[in-house]
Amino acid sequence: MAAEGEPIVIKFAHVVADDTPKGKGALLFQKLVGERLAGKVKVEVYPNSTLVGDADEMQALLDGKVQMLAPSLSKFDKYTKKLQVFDLPFLFDDEAAVQRFQNREMSRELLRSMADSGIYGLAYWNNGLKQLSATRALVKPEDAAGLAFRIQPSTVLEAQFDAVGAKPVRLPFADVYKSLQNGVVQGAENPWSNIASQKMNTVQPFITESNHGVLNYMLVTTSKFWMSMPFAVRSELEGIVLEVTQTVNKEAAALNQRDRDRIVASGTSKLITLTPEQRQAWREQMMPVWKTYEADIGADVIRAALTVNR
Ligand code: LMR
Repeated sequence: MAAEGEPIVIKFAHVVADDTPKGKGALLFQKLVGERLAGKVKVEVYPNSTLVGDADEMQALLDGKVQMLAPSLSKFDKYTKKLQVFDLPFLFDDEAAVQRFQNREMSRELLRSMADSGIYGLAYWNNGLKQLSATRALVKPEDAAGLAFRIQPSTVLEAQFDAVGAKPVRLPFADVYKSLQNGVVQGAENPWSNIASQKMNTVQPFITESNHGVLNYMLVTTSKFWMSMPFAVRSELEGIVLEVTQTVNKEAAALNQRDRDRIVASGTSKLITLTPEQRQAWREQMMPVWKTYEADIGADVIRAALTVNR
């Protein structure tokens, strides 16, 4: 706790660049807190894994070394299996469907799914849908066979790549560019904003616009920290969180579109767009993963997610 008269410090660490949906969201949160809670709360933002990387950030949060994070929904595996619903390949038809699910009661409940571990979910922040990139052209699912793909730490993502005969390799985000460059892995899956801001396109000559899965975030703190603050301060912060969330979620798609356009214009990578039949072939190959994880995630959670497709 802050000493009498000293501002409460919120260390907000994340692993991506400033000019991404999450990076911008963290900076907007810092700015609004600076304007509205000057002298009471101070936000320090640590981007690009400069304070903690994704392998250690949850422990750092629980140890009180940082007070806010926004890990991707694929990184909570250890604390709840339910959030793996977001990892199921081809579950959501598009980003609008994901947004509808995030607004549903089930997603509100999932913000509390890690309460037993003391983790307090504040909001969902969008990044975008993932694209497949590789050292060779991925048109049919068979094209991925034998290639090593970097994945986030999620058993569902592991199964997704197993389903097409590829080799999933868990690596921290900070190591992705280097690992693609030196050939430890030959492929990856990322939204456009992460591909562009990490310059992954410069080491991935082929990008398939697969939109096969989601990479969004949960803004989290600990209940211990959040409830330790005076009510008036916490209420003001919650208002700011809501406002920043709306801005992030309004702007994320445009940022990804901008980065897609930049990558195409740079000419580093051949963009592969799939016909509906080609995309369907990937979907059919990967869809058995839903069944495999249904018991872990909860059939009710998957059902709730499916109702948002139109
Ligand atoms: C990843 O590890 O690929 C992402 O979770 C990084 C991020 O925070 O967008």
